[in-house]
Amino acid sequence: MKMSNYFKVLILCLLAVASTQAQLQLGFYTYSCPSAEQIIQNFVHEHIHNAPSLAATLIRMHFHDCFVRWCWFETLECASFKGCDASILLNSTNKQAEKDAPPNLTVRGFDFIDRIKSLVEAECPGVVSCADIIALSARDSIAATGGPYWKVPTGRRDGVISNLVEARNSIPAPFHNITVLQTLFGNQGLDLKDLVLLSGAHTIGISLCTSFSNRLYNFTGKGDQDPSLDSEYAENLKTFKCKNINDNTTIVEMDPGSRKTFDLSYYNQVVKRRGLFESDSALLNNPVTKALVTQLLHGSLENFYAEFAKSIEKMGQIKVKTGSQGEIRKHCAFVNS
Ligand code: HEM
Ligand SMILES: *[C@@H]1O[C@H](CO)[C@@H](O)[C@H](O)[C@H]1NC(C)=O
Ligand SMILES: *[C@@H]1O[C@H](CO)[C@@H](O)[C@H](O)[C@H]1NC(C)=O
Ligand SMILES: *[C@@H]1O[C@H](CO)[C@@H](O)[C@H](O)[C@H]1NC(C)=O
Ligand SMILES: *[C@@H]1O[C@H](CO)[C@@H](O)[C@H](O)[C@H]1NC(C)=O
Ligand SMILES: *[C@@H]1O[C@H](CO)[C@@H](O)[C@H](O)[C@H]1NC(C)=O
Repeated sequence: MKMSNYFKVLILCLLAVASTQAQLQLGFYTYSCPSAEQIIQNFVHEHIHNAPSLAATLIRMHFHDCFVRWCWFETLECASFKGCDASILLNSTNKQAEKDAPPNLTVRGFDFIDRIKSLVEAECPGVVSCADIIALSARDSIAATGGPYWKVPTGRRDGVISNLVEARNSIPAPFHNITVLQTLFGNQGLDLKDLVLLSGAHTIGISLCTSFSNRLYNFTGKGDQDPSLDSEYAENLKTFKCKNINDNTTIVEMDPGSRKTFDLSYYNQVVKRRGLFESDSALLNNPVTKALVTQLLHGSLENFYAEFAKSIEKMGQIKVKTGSQGEIRKHCAFVNS
Protein backbone atom coordinates (compact mmCIF):
# COMPACT_ATOMS: atom_id res chain seq x y z
CA MET A 1 0.00 0.00 0.00
CA LYS A 2 1.28 3.41 -0.87
CA MET A 3 1.84 5.92 1.87
CA SER A 4 -1.04 8.07 0.67
CA ASN A 5 -3.38 5.14 1.08
CA TYR A 6 -2.31 4.78 4.69
CA PHE A 7 -3.25 8.40 5.14
CA LYS A 8 -6.61 7.80 3.54
CA VAL A 9 -7.27 4.89 5.86
CA LEU A 10 -6.13 6.95 8.80
CA ILE A 11 -8.41 9.81 7.84
CA LEU A 12 -11.34 7.45 7.39
CA CYS A 13 -10.68 6.00 10.83
CA LEU A 14 -10.53 9.46 12.36
CA LEU A 15 -13.79 10.38 10.66
CA ALA A 16 -15.38 7.23 11.95
CA VAL A 17 -14.24 8.05 15.48
CA ALA A 18 -15.47 11.63 15.12
CA SER A 19 -18.88 10.51 13.95
CA THR A 20 -19.34 7.98 16.73
CA GLN A 21 -18.31 10.61 19.24
CA ALA A 22 -21.05 12.82 17.90
CA GLN A 23 -23.65 10.59 19.52
CA LEU A 24 -24.91 10.29 23.01
CA GLN A 25 -23.19 7.71 25.14
CA LEU A 26 -23.73 6.20 28.54
CA GLY A 27 -21.42 7.81 31.08
CA PHE A 28 -20.31 10.62 28.77
CA TYR A 29 -18.99 12.51 31.81
CA THR A 30 -17.03 9.57 33.27
CA TYR A 31 -13.70 11.33 32.68
CA SER A 32 -14.70 14.99 32.33
CA CYS A 33 -16.88 15.14 35.45
CA PRO A 34 -16.96 11.76 37.17
CA SER A 35 -19.32 12.76 39.96
CA ALA A 36 -21.86 14.61 37.80
CA GLU A 37 -24.50 11.90 37.60
CA GLN A 38 -24.10 11.13 41.30
CA ILE A 39 -24.50 14.77 42.28
CA ILE A 40 -27.73 14.94 40.31
CA GLN A 41 -29.05 11.70 41.72
CA ASN A 42 -28.17 12.67 45.29
CA PHE A 43 -29.87 16.03 44.98
CA VAL A 44 -32.99 14.43 43.56
CA HIS A 45 -33.04 11.80 46.31
CA GLU A 46 -32.60 14.41 49.03
CA HIS A 47 -35.38 16.66 47.80
CA ILE A 48 -37.97 14.69 45.89
CA HIS A 49 -39.60 13.18 48.96
CA ASN A 50 -40.59 16.64 50.16
CA ALA A 51 -42.06 17.39 46.75
CA PRO A 52 -42.94 14.19 44.88
CA SER A 53 -45.11 16.17 42.43
CA LEU A 54 -41.87 17.55 41.01
CA ALA A 55 -41.31 14.19 39.32
CA ALA A 56 -44.34 14.88 37.13
CA THR A 57 -43.17 18.42 36.42
CA LEU A 58 -39.70 17.23 35.45
CA ILE A 59 -40.74 14.41 33.14
CA ARG A 60 -43.16 16.77 31.44
CA MET A 61 -40.39 19.34 31.10
CA HIS A 62 -38.19 16.68 29.50
CA PHE A 63 -40.98 15.83 27.04
CA HIS A 64 -41.57 19.47 26.12
CA ASP A 65 -37.88 20.18 25.80
CA CYS A 66 -37.47 17.33 23.33
CA PHE A 67 -40.57 18.17 21.29
CA VAL A 68 -40.40 21.90 21.13
CA ARG A 69 -39.51 23.47 17.84
CA TRP A 70 -38.40 27.04 17.52
CA CYS A 71 -38.22 29.33 14.52
CA TRP A 72 -36.39 32.47 13.61
CA PHE A 73 -39.56 34.35 12.70
CA GLU A 74 -43.16 33.54 13.11
CA THR A 75 -43.75 33.82 9.38
CA LEU A 76 -40.93 31.60 8.23
CA GLU A 77 -41.53 27.93 7.74
CA CYS A 78 -39.63 26.17 10.45
CA ALA A 79 -36.29 25.21 9.06
CA SER A 80 -34.48 24.27 12.21
CA PHE A 81 -35.81 21.57 14.43
CA LYS A 82 -34.36 21.66 17.87
CA GLY A 83 -34.58 18.63 20.04
CA CYS A 84 -33.66 17.99 23.67
CA ASP A 85 -31.37 21.01 24.12
CA ALA A 86 -32.70 22.82 27.19
CA SER A 87 -34.27 25.57 25.06
CA ILE A 88 -37.25 25.23 27.34
CA LEU A 89 -35.24 26.71 30.19
CA LEU A 90 -34.26 29.90 28.40
CA ASN A 91 -35.38 32.94 30.29
CA SER A 92 -36.89 34.76 27.36
CA THR A 93 -39.20 31.93 26.52
CA ASN A 94 -39.86 29.68 29.47
CA LYS A 95 -42.30 31.80 31.44
CA GLN A 96 -44.44 32.26 28.34
CA ALA A 97 -44.23 28.73 27.06
CA GLU A 98 -45.31 27.23 30.33
CA LYS A 99 -47.98 29.78 31.06
CA ASP A 100 -50.75 27.20 31.06
CA ALA A 101 -49.26 25.14 33.84
CA PRO A 102 -49.89 25.83 37.52
CA PRO A 103 -47.44 28.70 38.05
CA ASN A 104 -45.70 27.70 41.22
CA LEU A 105 -45.26 24.06 40.23
CA THR A 106 -43.63 25.14 37.02
CA VAL A 107 -41.39 27.68 38.67
CA ARG A 108 -40.35 25.00 41.11
CA GLY A 109 -39.24 22.84 38.21
CA PHE A 110 -37.01 25.54 36.75
CA ASP A 111 -35.66 26.39 40.17
CA PHE A 112 -34.89 22.74 40.86
CA ILE A 113 -32.85 22.46 37.66
CA ASP A 114 -31.03 25.70 38.48
CA ARG A 115 -30.04 24.41 41.89
CA ILE A 116 -28.68 21.18 40.42
CA LYS A 117 -26.82 23.14 37.78
CA SER A 118 -25.03 25.26 40.37
CA LEU A 119 -23.92 22.17 42.31
CA VAL A 120 -22.58 20.56 39.15
CA GLU A 121 -20.90 23.81 38.04
CA ALA A 122 -19.16 24.05 41.41
CA GLU A 123 -17.69 20.60 40.80
CA CYS A 124 -16.81 20.93 37.10
CA PRO A 125 -17.41 24.33 35.57
CA GLY A 126 -18.64 24.42 32.00
CA VAL A 127 -18.79 20.66 31.47
CA VAL A 128 -22.30 19.34 32.05
CA SER A 129 -25.12 20.58 29.84
CA CYS A 130 -28.48 21.77 31.07
CA ALA A 131 -30.07 19.43 28.52
CA ASP A 132 -28.44 16.43 30.22
CA ILE A 133 -29.48 17.73 33.63
CA ILE A 134 -33.12 17.81 32.52
CA ALA A 135 -32.91 14.28 31.12
CA LEU A 136 -31.11 12.85 34.15
CA SER A 137 -33.18 14.58 36.82
CA ALA A 138 -36.43 13.54 35.10
CA ARG A 139 -35.28 9.91 35.12
CA ASP A 140 -33.95 10.05 38.69
CA SER A 141 -37.06 11.72 40.10
CA ILE A 142 -39.40 9.20 38.51
CA ALA A 143 -37.24 6.34 39.76
CA ALA A 144 -37.01 7.89 43.24
CA THR A 145 -40.79 8.02 43.50
CA GLY A 146 -41.07 4.31 42.71
CA GLY A 147 -41.59 4.51 38.95
CA PRO A 148 -39.67 3.03 36.05
CA TYR A 149 -35.95 3.45 35.48
CA TRP A 150 -34.40 4.02 32.09
CA LYS A 151 -30.97 4.55 30.63
CA VAL A 152 -29.93 8.12 29.90
CA PRO A 153 -27.00 8.30 27.52
CA THR A 154 -25.43 11.75 27.88
CA GLY A 155 -23.46 14.26 25.86
CA ARG A 156 -26.31 16.53 24.86
CA ARG A 157 -25.27 20.13 24.19
CA ASP A 158 -27.41 23.16 24.94
CA GLY A 159 -29.14 25.28 22.32
CA VAL A 160 -27.65 28.71 21.70
CA ILE A 161 -30.44 30.67 20.10
CA SER A 162 -31.87 32.87 22.80
CA ASN A 163 -34.23 35.34 21.16
CA LEU A 164 -36.36 33.13 19.02
CA VAL A 165 -39.99 33.71 18.45
CA GLU A 166 -41.90 30.55 18.98
CA ALA A 167 -43.79 29.84 15.80
CA ARG A 168 -45.93 26.78 15.52
CA ASN A 169 -44.46 24.54 18.10
CA SER A 170 -44.80 20.87 17.88
CA ILE A 171 -46.00 20.10 21.37
CA PRO A 172 -49.23 18.13 21.16
CA ALA A 173 -52.34 19.77 22.57
CA PRO A 174 -54.97 18.08 24.73
CA PHE A 175 -57.58 18.54 21.98
CA HIS A 176 -55.54 16.82 19.27
CA ASN A 177 -57.03 13.76 17.62
CA ILE A 178 -55.19 10.52 16.92
CA THR A 179 -54.22 11.56 13.39
CA VAL A 180 -52.59 14.77 14.53
CA LEU A 181 -50.88 13.01 17.44
CA GLN A 182 -49.51 10.37 15.09
CA THR A 183 -48.12 13.12 12.85
CA LEU A 184 -46.57 15.13 15.67
CA PHE A 185 -44.94 12.06 17.17
CA GLY A 186 -43.94 10.86 13.71
CA ASN A 187 -42.19 14.18 13.05
CA GLN A 188 -39.95 13.36 15.98
CA GLY A 189 -39.27 9.80 14.86
CA LEU A 190 -41.70 8.31 17.34
CA ASP A 191 -44.39 5.81 16.37
CA LEU A 192 -47.83 4.86 17.64
CA LYS A 193 -46.35 2.51 20.19
CA ASP A 194 -44.25 5.33 21.61
CA LEU A 195 -47.37 7.51 21.69
CA VAL A 196 -49.26 4.94 23.74
CA LEU A 197 -46.38 4.31 26.12
CA LEU A 198 -45.36 7.91 26.65
CA SER A 199 -48.98 8.96 27.18
CA GLY A 200 -48.77 6.54 30.10
CA ALA A 201 -46.89 9.28 31.96
CA HIS A 202 -50.35 10.72 32.57
CA THR A 203 -50.58 8.08 35.29
CA ILE A 204 -48.99 10.76 37.48
CA GLY A 205 -49.66 14.43 37.83
CA ILE A 206 -52.35 17.01 37.52
CA SER A 207 -54.12 19.25 35.06
CA LEU A 208 -55.92 22.53 35.16
CA CYS A 209 -59.63 22.38 34.29
CA THR A 210 -59.07 24.69 31.33
CA SER A 211 -57.03 22.01 29.58
CA PHE A 212 -60.18 19.94 29.04
CA SER A 213 -63.27 21.85 30.25
CA ASN A 214 -64.57 22.27 26.70
CA ARG A 215 -65.25 18.53 26.82
CA LEU A 216 -67.56 19.08 29.77
CA TYR A 217 -69.37 22.23 28.72
CA ASN A 218 -69.08 23.19 25.10
CA PHE A 219 -67.59 20.46 22.98
CA THR A 220 -68.89 21.52 19.57
CA GLY A 221 -69.98 25.05 20.45
CA LYS A 222 -73.56 23.98 21.23
CA GLY A 223 -73.21 23.73 24.98
CA ASP A 224 -72.69 19.99 24.68
CA GLN A 225 -70.47 17.33 26.22
CA ASP A 226 -67.86 15.20 24.50
CA PRO A 227 -69.70 11.92 23.86
CA SER A 228 -66.43 10.00 24.04
CA LEU A 229 -66.06 10.95 27.70
CA ASP A 230 -67.89 8.72 30.18
CA SER A 231 -70.96 10.78 31.10
CA GLU A 232 -70.97 9.76 34.75
CA TYR A 233 -67.37 10.83 35.09
CA ALA A 234 -68.13 14.09 33.27
CA GLU A 235 -70.99 14.85 35.70
CA ASN A 236 -68.70 14.13 38.58
CA LEU A 237 -66.03 16.50 37.27
CA LYS A 238 -68.61 19.23 36.68
CA THR A 239 -70.14 18.88 40.13
CA PHE A 240 -67.02 18.55 42.23
CA LYS A 241 -64.13 19.95 40.22
CA CYS A 242 -64.53 22.15 37.18
CA LYS A 243 -67.66 24.09 38.03
CA ASN A 244 -67.66 26.21 34.88
CA ILE A 245 -65.90 26.32 31.53
CA ASN A 246 -63.67 29.24 32.55
CA ASP A 247 -62.35 27.71 35.77
CA ASN A 248 -58.63 28.28 35.34
CA THR A 249 -57.52 27.56 38.89
CA THR A 250 -58.92 24.18 39.93
CA ILE A 251 -56.56 21.27 39.59
CA VAL A 252 -57.66 17.74 38.70
CA GLU A 253 -55.74 14.52 39.07
CA MET A 254 -55.27 12.92 35.68
CA ASP A 255 -55.38 9.44 37.18
CA PRO A 256 -57.69 9.94 40.16
CA GLY A 257 -56.73 8.17 43.35
CA SER A 258 -53.48 7.00 41.87
CA ARG A 259 -51.75 10.14 40.68
CA LYS A 260 -48.65 9.50 42.71
CA THR A 261 -48.01 5.97 41.52
CA PHE A 262 -46.59 5.22 38.14
CA ASP A 263 -48.87 2.29 37.38
CA LEU A 264 -51.16 0.90 34.70
CA SER A 265 -54.29 2.58 36.00
CA TYR A 266 -54.02 5.39 33.44
CA TYR A 267 -54.74 2.80 30.73
CA ASN A 268 -57.65 1.53 32.78
CA GLN A 269 -59.05 5.04 32.85
CA VAL A 270 -58.62 5.27 29.09
CA VAL A 271 -60.55 2.07 28.36
CA LYS A 272 -63.27 3.14 30.79
CA ARG A 273 -63.58 6.31 28.66
CA ARG A 274 -62.29 8.38 31.53
CA GLY A 275 -59.13 9.67 29.94
CA LEU A 276 -59.08 13.36 30.82
CA PHE A 277 -57.99 14.81 27.49
CA GLU A 278 -59.24 14.13 24.00
CA SER A 279 -55.65 13.06 23.33
CA ASP A 280 -56.04 10.35 25.98
CA SER A 281 -59.39 9.18 24.62
CA ALA A 282 -57.90 9.26 21.15
CA LEU A 283 -55.84 6.18 21.93
CA LEU A 284 -59.05 4.19 21.45
CA ASN A 285 -59.66 5.64 17.99
CA ASN A 286 -56.98 3.75 16.13
CA PRO A 287 -56.88 -0.04 16.00
CA VAL A 288 -53.12 -0.13 16.63
CA THR A 289 -53.13 2.16 19.65
CA LYS A 290 -56.28 0.54 21.01
CA ALA A 291 -54.73 -2.90 20.82
CA LEU A 292 -51.57 -1.64 22.50
CA VAL A 293 -53.56 -0.20 25.39
CA THR A 294 -55.33 -3.54 25.88
CA GLN A 295 -52.07 -5.41 25.60
CA LEU A 296 -50.43 -3.23 28.25
CA LEU A 297 -53.37 -3.78 30.58
CA HIS A 298 -53.04 -7.53 30.17
CA GLY A 299 -49.31 -7.36 30.80
CA SER A 300 -47.38 -6.82 34.00
CA LEU A 301 -46.18 -3.60 35.55
CA GLU A 302 -42.63 -4.75 34.80
CA ASN A 303 -43.56 -5.09 31.15
CA PHE A 304 -44.98 -1.54 31.12
CA TYR A 305 -41.84 -0.17 32.76
CA ALA A 306 -39.58 -1.97 30.29
CA GLU A 307 -41.57 -0.77 27.29
CA PHE A 308 -41.88 2.76 28.69
CA ALA A 309 -38.11 2.83 29.17
CA LYS A 310 -37.54 2.01 25.51
CA SER A 311 -39.83 4.79 24.34
CA ILE A 312 -38.50 7.48 26.64
CA GLU A 313 -34.92 6.55 25.73
CA LYS A 314 -35.93 7.22 22.14
CA MET A 315 -37.61 10.49 23.12
CA GLY A 316 -34.50 11.64 24.98
CA GLN A 317 -32.45 11.44 21.78
CA ILE A 318 -34.68 13.55 19.54
CA LYS A 319 -32.49 15.81 17.41
CA VAL A 320 -29.89 16.20 20.13
CA LYS A 321 -26.87 18.44 19.63
CA THR A 322 -23.57 16.72 20.28
CA GLY A 323 -19.84 17.16 19.70
CA SER A 324 -19.13 20.77 18.87
CA GLN A 325 -22.74 21.79 18.21
CA GLY A 326 -24.39 24.17 20.64
CA GLU A 327 -22.64 24.91 23.90
CA ILE A 328 -22.54 24.10 27.58
CA ARG A 329 -24.52 26.88 29.16
CA LYS A 330 -23.11 28.47 32.31
CA HIS A 331 -26.57 29.29 33.57
CA CYS A 332 -29.49 27.26 32.31
CA ALA A 333 -31.75 30.28 31.80
CA PHE A 334 -29.34 32.13 29.50
CA VAL A 335 -27.18 31.32 26.54
CA ASN A 336 -23.52 32.16 27.14
CA SER A 337 -22.65 35.68 26.06
C1 HEM B 1 -49.66 12.66 23.77
C2 HEM B 1 -49.67 13.96 23.82
C3 HEM B 1 -49.76 14.73 25.11
C4 HEM B 1 -50.65 15.71 25.39
C5 HEM B 1 -51.70 16.27 24.45
C6 HEM B 1 -50.40 16.14 26.74
C7 HEM B 1 -51.09 17.16 27.37
C8 HEM B 1 -50.97 17.46 28.70
C9 HEM B 1 -51.73 18.48 29.37
C10 HEM B 1 -52.75 19.40 28.72
C11 HEM B 1 -51.40 18.45 30.68
C12 HEM B 1 -51.97 19.29 31.81
C13 HEM B 1 -51.29 20.62 31.87
C14 HEM B 1 -52.00 21.57 32.77
O1 HEM B 1 -53.22 21.70 32.67
O2 HEM B 1 -51.34 22.19 33.60
C15 HEM B 1 -50.40 17.42 30.83
C16 HEM B 1 -49.81 17.10 32.01
C17 HEM B 1 -48.78 16.18 32.13
N1 HEM B 1 -48.17 15.51 31.10
FE1 HEM B 1 -48.82 15.42 29.19
N2 HEM B 1 -49.38 15.41 27.26
C18 HEM B 1 -48.95 14.54 26.30
C19 HEM B 1 -47.90 13.66 26.41
C20 HEM B 1 -47.10 13.56 27.52
C21 HEM B 1 -45.84 12.87 27.56
C22 HEM B 1 -45.17 12.20 26.37
C23 HEM B 1 -45.37 12.98 28.83
C24 HEM B 1 -44.10 12.45 29.42
C25 HEM B 1 -43.43 11.40 29.00
C26 HEM B 1 -46.36 13.72 29.58
C27 HEM B 1 -46.30 13.97 30.92
C28 HEM B 1 -47.18 14.75 31.62
C29 HEM B 1 -47.18 14.87 33.07
C30 HEM B 1 -46.29 14.12 34.03
C31 HEM B 1 -48.17 15.79 33.38
C32 HEM B 1 -48.54 16.29 34.78
C33 HEM B 1 -47.70 17.49 35.11
C34 HEM B 1 -47.77 17.91 36.56
O3 HEM B 1 -48.45 17.27 37.36
O4 HEM B 1 -47.08 18.88 36.90
N3 HEM B 1 -47.37 14.08 28.75
N4 HEM B 1 -50.16 16.85 29.62
C1 LIG C 1 -35.80 36.81 32.91
O1 LIG C 1 -37.22 36.71 32.83
C2 LIG C 1 -37.91 37.47 33.79
C3 LIG C 1 -39.40 37.20 33.66
O2 LIG C 1 -39.80 37.01 32.36
C4 LIG C 1 -37.57 38.97 33.59
O3 LIG C 1 -38.24 39.76 34.56
C5 LIG C 1 -36.07 39.16 33.74
O4 LIG C 1 -35.73 40.50 33.47
C6 LIG C 1 -35.32 38.25 32.76
N1 LIG C 1 -33.90 38.36 33.02
C7 LIG C 1 -33.04 38.64 32.04
C8 LIG C 1 -31.62 38.79 32.47
O5 LIG C 1 -33.37 38.75 30.89
C1 LIG D 1 -49.20 27.60 44.84
O1 LIG D 1 -48.81 28.28 45.99
C2 LIG D 1 -49.87 28.57 46.88
C3 LIG D 1 -49.35 29.40 48.01
O2 LIG D 1 -48.08 28.99 48.39
C4 LIG D 1 -50.49 27.26 47.37
O3 LIG D 1 -51.56 27.50 48.23
C5 LIG D 1 -50.97 26.48 46.16
O4 LIG D 1 -51.46 25.22 46.57
C6 LIG D 1 -49.86 26.29 45.16
N1 LIG D 1 -50.38 25.68 43.98
C7 LIG D 1 -49.84 24.61 43.50
C8 LIG D 1 -50.46 24.12 42.25
O5 LIG D 1 -48.88 24.05 44.01
C1 LIG E 1 -58.07 15.50 13.16
O1 LIG E 1 -57.85 16.87 13.32
C2 LIG E 1 -57.43 17.49 12.12
C3 LIG E 1 -57.04 18.92 12.45
O2 LIG E 1 -57.99 19.52 13.25
C4 LIG E 1 -58.52 17.39 11.07
O3 LIG E 1 -58.10 18.00 9.86
C5 LIG E 1 -58.83 15.92 10.83
O4 LIG E 1 -59.93 15.80 9.95
C6 LIG E 1 -59.14 15.21 12.13
N1 LIG E 1 -59.19 13.79 11.88
C7 LIG E 1 -60.14 13.03 12.34
C8 LIG E 1 -60.06 11.59 11.99
O5 LIG E 1 -61.04 13.46 13.02
C1 LIG F 1 -69.96 27.66 23.29
O1 LIG F 1 -69.22 27.87 22.11
C2 LIG F 1 -69.89 28.74 21.20
C3 LIG F 1 -69.09 28.79 19.92
O2 LIG F 1 -67.73 29.00 20.18
C4 LIG F 1 -70.06 30.10 21.82
O3 LIG F 1 -70.76 30.96 20.94
C5 LIG F 1 -70.86 29.96 23.13
O4 LIG F 1 -70.93 31.20 23.80
C6 LIG F 1 -70.20 28.94 24.02
N1 LIG F 1 -71.00 28.70 25.20
C7 LIG F 1 -70.50 28.73 26.42
C8 LIG F 1 -71.44 28.43 27.54
O5 LIG F 1 -69.32 28.99 26.66
C1 LIG G 1 -58.42 33.22 34.93
O1 LIG G 1 -59.73 33.66 34.71
C2 LIG G 1 -59.99 34.98 35.24
C3 LIG G 1 -61.45 35.26 35.07
O2 LIG G 1 -61.98 34.69 33.92
C4 LIG G 1 -59.09 35.97 34.51
O3 LIG G 1 -59.28 37.29 35.00
C5 LIG G 1 -57.63 35.57 34.69
O4 LIG G 1 -56.78 36.42 33.94
C6 LIG G 1 -57.41 34.13 34.28
N1 LIG G 1 -56.07 33.73 34.64
C7 LIG G 1 -55.26 33.10 33.80
C8 LIG G 1 -53.93 32.72 34.34
O5 LIG G 1 -55.57 32.81 32.65
